[in-house]
Amino acid sequence: MTEIHLAQLLFARTALAPDPADGSFWMPPQVSTIAHSVDWLFNFILAISVFFFVLIVVVMVVFVLKYRRREGQTAESSPSHNTALEVTWTVIPVLLVIVIFFFGFKGFLDMATPPANAYEIMVEGQKWKWSFTYPNGYVDENLHVPVDRPIQLVMSSADVIHSLYVPAFRIKMDVVPGRYSKAWFEATQPGEYDLFCAEYCGTGHSTMLAHVVVHPPGEFETWLDKASDFLATMSPVDAGRKLFQARGCTQCHSMDGSAKTGPTLLNVFGRREKLSNGTTITVDENYIRESILEPAAQVVAGFEPVMPTFQGRLKDQEIMAIIAYLKAPAEASKGSSS
Ligand code: CUA
Repeated sequence: MTEIHLAQLLFARTALAPDPADGSFWMPPQVSTIAHSVDWLFNFILAISVFFFVLIVVVMVVFVLKYRRREGQTAESSPSHNTALEVTWTVIPVLLVIVIFFFGFKGFLDMATPPANAYEIMVEGQKWKWSFTYPNGYVDENLHVPVDRPIQLVMSSADVIHSLYVPAFRIKMDVVPGRYSKAWFEATQPGEYDLFCAEYCGTGHSTMLAHVVVHPPGEFETWLDKASDFLATMSPVDAGRKLFQARGCTQCHSMDGSAKTGPTLLNVFGRREKLSNGTTITVDENYIRESILEPAAQVVAGFEPVMPTFQGRLKDQEIMAIIAYLKAPAEASKGSSS
């Protein structure tokens, strides 16, 4: 039963899926301009490895059987060397390694050199959330890009080392605190693809996910205009909820009363909190604002001062929207959609 299913699956995968945008049996879809050459080199190295693995194992087994110890036979001394054989098994691997290096280095250079007209998007990794900043200053939790246009990512981290990985584009690049790393790609097919963190970065590493949305021609600009306008088009509470989600607050602060890395923010407004310095405060607008901009200044007792500052990363209007969201009664702060 299982074998039949596997065979059917293999057949269906190979016979009915010739479009590279669907992916192959063990590869995700090829959705960037470089994906084809990456896969070609991978398959080339795989084929060489399989060929030599089979060759060596077969020759080994044949020799083990043929030259095994038999009754009444004594071993002859083996010849010291065979020049023709040794030259052959040195020259062939050297040629193969040169071919692999040539295509590998060419691919590396292509992937490291973005075209001059690339559209630039800033990326920030933070435990455990990605944020993408567009040229107009708008920040989104997912990566939106136009199809058929080179995109350059300029990436940094607010805390530890992360790694941006989009299997469908065949790109993976470390995102490091204190410096900028870059990656570029050109998507070839509209659709939605997975973006992962590929560097273990702590408890929430496996949840550090995002989507890449590749927009059809002309639709990216429309999306960006509409998305950027959210402070003007949404109520402060709704805008605050969106920011709370998109900027990674939910990674550490729950809205259901349970403590995570930071205290829950359910009904936080007006709450009396004991601080780590022994004093007690009442949470008001000023305390929330200070906690966003200078998180280490007054930490609630029982929690570590691990929150990164949002100084320079949130506009005043955005901080006000977040305060409005945290002030709203619990029913409103849950929202209808999330
Ligand atoms: Cu970020 Cu793993």
